[in-house]
Amino acid sequence: MIPKRTLARTGLAISELGFGAASLGNLYRPVGDGEARATLEAALAAGLTYVDTAPRYGHGLSERRVGDLLRDRKDTVLSTKVGRLLTPDRSLSGDGERYGFRSAMPFEQVYDYSHDGVMRSYEDSLQRLGLARIDILYVHDIGRLTHGDDHERTFAQLTTGGGFRALERLRDSGAINAFGLGVNEWQVCLEAMDHVDLDVVLLAGRYTLLEQTALATFLPACLARRVSVVIGGAYNSGILASGVKRDGPHYYDYGQAPDDIVERVRRLEAVCDRHGAPLAAAALQFPLAHPAVVSVIPGLGSVARVDQTRALYARKLPADLWRDLRSEGLVDAETPLPGDLA
Ligand SMILES: NC(=O)c1ccc[n+]([C@@H]2O[C@H](COP(=O)([O-])OP(=O)(O)OC[C@H]3O[C@@H](n4cnc5c(N)ncnc54)[C@H](OP(=O)(O)O)[C@@H]3O)[C@@H](O)[C@H]2O)c1
Repeated sequence: MIPKRTLARTGLAISELGFGAASLGNLYRPVGDGEARATLEAALAAGLTYVDTAPRYGHGLSERRVGDLLRDRKDTVLSTKVGRLLTPDRSLSGDGERYGFRSAMPFEQVYDYSHDGVMRSYEDSLQRLGLARIDILYVHDIGRLTHGDDHERTFAQLTTGGGFRALERLRDSGAINAFGLGVNEWQVCLEAMDHVDLDVVLLAGRYTLLEQTALATFLPACLARRVSVVIGGAYNSGILASGVKRDGPHYYDYGQAPDDIVERVRRLEAVCDRHGAPLAAAALQFPLAHPAVVSVIPGLGSVARVDQTRALYARKLPADLWRDLRSEGLVDAETPLPGDLA
């Protein structure tokens, strides 16, 4: 079974290896209904009882599939997201790729972080999930990375526009247990902390074996304010799972990896090889050594990937591996490492 860790501010316990369900919204490739069901069932049976989804994932498809499987279970923790409403669009048909998803759900995504937008998103998610309860709500993709010059306006929807107030109302009433941000950048999380008490942040890609930019200011702020952190993008879009020994393209941050990233991964992989350790296992286990981190949630799109991921998570890695990564300057000297806990 997978151990659980507790969100500091709420007491909610979630499995430290969780299930990223973007895959079940047909991220990049179609996943059949049967395969989706078998994949989530295999993960739940293995103890990955924390599941993260979002309206965006397959324009509602992931939420529908996840809800159908979680309906009769009492032992799971579910997060979904607010910030995008799904509006019907009759002009859409077929399962050509849209925003990365091969889903034929005929909905367009419209950003809305306002009070009423948050409330409607929450209600819509309950209906799509077919569930009476959502445990965690993340504000999805708020920040400059997604919204560029429109950041001030979209962020103001959360502050003066009442989006944060809506989330506080849901938490205060017990409708949800916790809320936070689900983003690929930590700067906006610090900005949000100036306005509201977050319980948890889902941070993708910014605290990984390859990149620890969250270490100096963001993670200490989380510890100081008892904000728990869930790690997405532990493989930085794939390059830390596949390694760089085979021919490319290698994927980093949703695109083709630049040469300096390929070279850095080559060095990480060489140290792992020296210790007989799979790079993917080191990447999966690395973020869990930080005391603010409560879970790491790889995307899982097949039963084989569930089995492989469990094995990577359970793999015993030598303390010397972590020490060498540190002494060769491949991870930040200050970062807590699993070897430190040994
Ligand atoms: N803004 C947000 O809130 C946000 C952003 C990003 C992620 N998330 C959450 O985090 C979850 C995980 O997302 P992620 O970005 O980390 O994507 P991921 O699906 O975990 O991994 C990214 C890439 O790594 C590849 N990969 C994974 N395991 C592998 C293995 N063992 N061997 C070879 N390749 C492997 C995957 O390939 P395959 O497709 O073949 O598996 C995929 O292309 C999402 O489902 C979502 O729940 C949230």
